[in-house]
Amino acid sequence: MLENALTIDDLKALARRRVPKMFFDYADSGAWTESTYRANESDFARILLRQRVLVDMTERSLATEMVGQSVAMPVALAPTGLTGMQHADGEILAAQAAEAAGVPFALSTMSICSIEAVKAATKKPFWFQLYVMRDRTFIERLIDRAKAAGCAGLVLTLDLQILGQRHKDLRNGLSAPPKFTPKHIWQMATRPLWCLQMLGTRNRSFGNIVGHASNVGDLSSLSSWTKEQFDPRLSWKDVAWIKERWGGKLILKGILDVEDARMAAASGADAIIVSNHGGRQLDGARSSISALPGIVDAVGDRIEVHMDGGVRSGQDVLKAVALGAKGVWIGRPFLYGLGAGGRAGVARAIEIIRNELDVSMALCGKRDIRTIDTGIIDEAPWPVP
Ligand code: FNR
Repeated sequence: MLENALTIDDLKALARRRVPKMFFDYADSGAWTESTYRANESDFARILLRQRVLVDMTERSLATEMVGQSVAMPVALAPTGLTGMQHADGEILAAQAAEAAGVPFALSTMSICSIEAVKAATKKPFWFQLYVMRDRTFIERLIDRAKAAGCAGLVLTLDLQILGQRHKDLRNGLSAPPKFTPKHIWQMATRPLWCLQMLGTRNRSFGNIVGHASNVGDLSSLSSWTKEQFDPRLSWKDVAWIKERWGGKLILKGILDVEDARMAAASGADAIIVSNHGGRQLDGARSSISALPGIVDAVGDRIEVHMDGGVRSGQDVLKAVALGAKGVWIGRPFLYGLGAGGRAGVARAIEIIRNELDVSMALCGKRDIRTIDTGIIDEAPWPVP
């Protein structure tokens, strides 16, 4: 089945058939009208690449560095919450697939498998994504746990001080672990393989939180805790103390505005990710790819600039790299792979993107990803510095 999947869309169709609706919808949804979610994808099609011929393309390389780490290609698996609900042990399987492919994996604060569980199942360091909660003692402990696990970078997410509304999640009554209403039982019963795999694991709730945050020992306390914990007062001062406590590579995620990018560069972080949270937060915000050139122009000489949002192919990765992204993160593409076929499905998603990137780079007359610049862009709807 997986071998027949030739595109990320093919994996999405497979995942839709295998993952209970509430969890598939959780991945495949954006905030409010989903206009930003759609623009993230469709804006890539508005960028045209320059086709070149008769260039020797025999020896090619996609290898480069992201935040000082050697990577097989400039692609990383973005942090996504509830990944272990797309497939049992989802974070472990995705981390293992990323490790085998030589690309970074970032574990979400809201993951099902805990930092320690992912650490135990992998050999190379992964990155950890931090949401800043009101309970700062919990945050300090999380940072310390990520350090103890040898995480190679901290991805600090800045665009979720307050939660954007996703209609599908409300309509589906989404929760982790799943509720057992007749509707949910039906959704799960029609996905027997998913159920069997889920019965075989103990990772069924937020592994970084349950048993670690004060007063969160059971599931009802977890639900009220998470609702009230995202911190609307988060400020640049918090970035400074987190940077100090962490002491390692710091990546700020969720920058879409040039002014914020300047503040981020001044904060001393190592990299920023131009991102609108995959269109899951401010509906009506611009697409990430359209924001990228202006931000690269403003701060690209001072801080490493990455991007995520709407990347569905190797051609999209190539366009983002040409517009100045040193790293390109994928969220839904790997989630669809995971839902479609566990670890092998994630590996397939990475392979599809790697293959498309390699061939497209060659057809632009380039052999080394590190030499890609705006020269391979034929036309873009925004000014390209
Ligand atoms: C996310 N994203 C996200 N970001 C983050 O910093 N912490 C998180 O826990 C999550 N959770 C999450 C869940 C799901 C289901 C999705 C789809 C996304 C955002 C994610 O890191 C990334 O910014 C987007 O997924 C990128 O867009 P694409 O590649 O999904 O289009």
